[in-house]
Amino acid sequence: MKAAVVDSFANAPRYADFAEPSAQADEVIVNVRAAALSQLVRLQAGGKHYTSGEPPFVPGADGVGVLEDGQRVYFAFPRPPVGAMAERVAVKSAYTVALPDDLDDITAAAIANPGMSSWAALTERVAMQPGETVLVNGATGASGRLAIQIAKHLGAAKVIATGRNPATEPELRALGADDFIPLNQPREALTAAFRTAIAAGVDVVLDYLWGPSAEAFLAAATSHGAGEAAPSISFVNIGSLGGTEINLSAGALRSSGVELLGSGLGSVSHTALVRAIGDMLAAVHSTGFQVQAEAVPLADVESAWARESSARLVLTP
Ligand SMILES: NC(=O)c1ccc[n+]([C@@H]2O[C@H](COP(=O)([O-])OP(=O)(O)OC[C@H]3O[C@@H](n4cnc5c(N)ncnc54)[C@H](OP(=O)(O)O)[C@@H]3O)[C@@H](O)[C@H]2O)c1
Repeated sequence: MKAAVVDSFANAPRYADFAEPSAQADEVIVNVRAAALSQLVRLQAGGKHYTSGEPPFVPGADGVGVLEDGQRVYFAFPRPPVGAMAERVAVKSAYTVALPDDLDDITAAAIANPGMSSWAALTERVAMQPGETVLVNGATGASGRLAIQIAKHLGAAKVIATGRNPATEPELRALGADDFIPLNQPREALTAAFRTAIAAGVDVVLDYLWGPSAEAFLAAATSHGAGEAAPSISFVNIGSLGGTEINLSAGALRSSGVELLGSGLGSVSHTALVRAIGDMLAAVHSTGFQVQAEAVPLADVESAWARESSARLVLTP
């Protein structure tokens, strides 16, 4: 069968032949219709994610396809080495979810991973209460934009978005953000802006960046032992586009009310991630969750890899 094939972490996947998968006892074969090129897939294919396999393999964490009985499904975690960017995959039947008829293949494939990032964080990692305030750090990408919409849908009273590109503020407000903090300001000014936001109340941070902006937020959350307990804030790391490491002093942590958590593969079980995605996909039509998506033929995988697109690219065999 045809597939995208990673021969080396140094090169983009190429369109080539790859051995057909066969189903094991608890698996089904899915005829793939759409598989998204997410940040996770890019990182895995480049050997830069903690879940990366060894080449040769087919990249692709999840997608949309049809079972042999004709059922249209979302699927996740196809069995390596055949990832989702192939004509067929073998996947545990427990990792498939029937798709609602009102959701098209491309939207479902495009929205699953970025939508899951906040849905799982807010349902599996922190029990966000209706009326709380959520700060989305790094809200300009597919995941951050969906995090604004999903936090509001799950009951947040207020969502604060941050981004390094202030030109995105009107778009983020149109998606539901009530406030915007630009990240492209000097460290002291950014810390002061976070301190003002925390004084007004921040219950949950969904952090797509880590790096300097996370450091600035955590510095702003310290009370320096002023007498009152610092407010409780659940800080959930989801991505690391701003840096993979931060400096965090013990004193800063113990003088803050911050609870540090992560959400993603490893901290949430595969079953819970698939459940979160199924719940989120079921809500897409009624909520109108928006994601920009563009279908690209699987045969063009190599050039798709080189593209920088604001839309989520979805490969179609
Ligand atoms: N743990 C999970 O469950 C999970 C799930 C999905 C995604 N993620 C992670 O979440 C992160 C975001 O993914 P995505 O799907 O939203 O990616 P995306 O759609 O490609 O968007 C990335 C956005 O990040 C912004 N950005 C990049 N570097 C930045 C920086 N240094 N400071 C501020 N903004 C920066 C860019 O915005 P501008 O260029 O406009 O500034 C871009 O719009 C990635 O690290 C991804 O691996 C995690």
